[in-house]
Amino acid sequence: MTMSNPDSRLISSNIVWHHATVTRARREAQSGHRGAIIWFTGLSGSGKSTLAHAVEEVLHQKGCRTFVLDGDNVRHGLCSDLGFSPDDRIENIRRIGEMAKLFMEAGIIVLTAFISPYRADRDRVRGMVKSGDFMEIFCDSSIQVCEGRDVKGLYKKARAGQIAEFTGISSPYEVPLEPELALRTGVEDIDTCVREILVEMTQSGILSHR
Ligand code: ADX
Repeated sequence: MTMSNPDSRLISSNIVWHHATVTRARREAQSGHRGAIIWFTGLSGSGKSTLAHAVEEVLHQKGCRTFVLDGDNVRHGLCSDLGFSPDDRIENIRRIGEMAKLFMEAGIIVLTAFISPYRADRDRVRGMVKSGDFMEIFCDSSIQVCEGRDVKGLYKKARAGQIAEFTGISSPYEVPLEPELALRTGVEDIDTCVREILVEMTQSGILSHR
C-alpha cells in the first residue's frame, strides 16, 4: 500500500448521499443511549481489548447496544491486506474509523481496540464526528510491563528480530496529548478502569443516569 493521504481516496463521481428515514436520533431514542466511539489506544498488551470487552459486558447487561472492533480480529478480514508499515497502519485506522462511524450512526456504542500508534490518525477519526461522539482512552502501560506480560509472545520475537516494525521496539507509539481518559493499565486493576470509563461515559452524556 502506498497511500499516505487517505483523504485523496474519493475517486467515484456521480454519487449522491441518501438520507435515511430511520435516523440516528430515532435509533438512539429507541436504545435509550447515544451512539458513540470509545477509542482505546496503547501498546500491544496494554489491555485495550480486555478493557473494551469488560466495558462492553457491563453495558450489555445494562441493555445498551454495543460492539467491539478488535485489532487482531479486523486484521483477519476487512484489513487482511494490510501489514504494519506506516502507510498500512494509516490505512488500517482510516478503515476502522469509517467503520466505527457507521456503527455510531446506527446508534451503537462501538469500542475499538487498536494500537493506533499515530496521533494524526486518531485525531482524523476524532475530526470525522461531532464533539462528544469520540472518547479517546489511553491505555497507559509501560513497554516494560507489556513486554513482561508478553501474552502473545510477540515481544520476544520482535526482540529476536523475527518481527519487523514492532510498536514500542522498532516502530513508534505517539502518546495521546489530550485523551478523555488516561488509565494506568499497568498498575490499576480492570474493575477500577472499567468504573472510570463508565463514569466518564455518563458525565459526557453517552449514557444516561440509569
Ligand atoms: S495498528 O498499529 O495498525 O493500530 P493493530 O491494533 O491493528 O495495529 O494490530 C496490532 C496487533 O497485531 C498487535 O496486538 C499484535 O498482536 C499484532 N502485531 C503483529 N505484528 C505487529 C507489529 N509489527 N507491530 C505491532 N503489532 C503487531
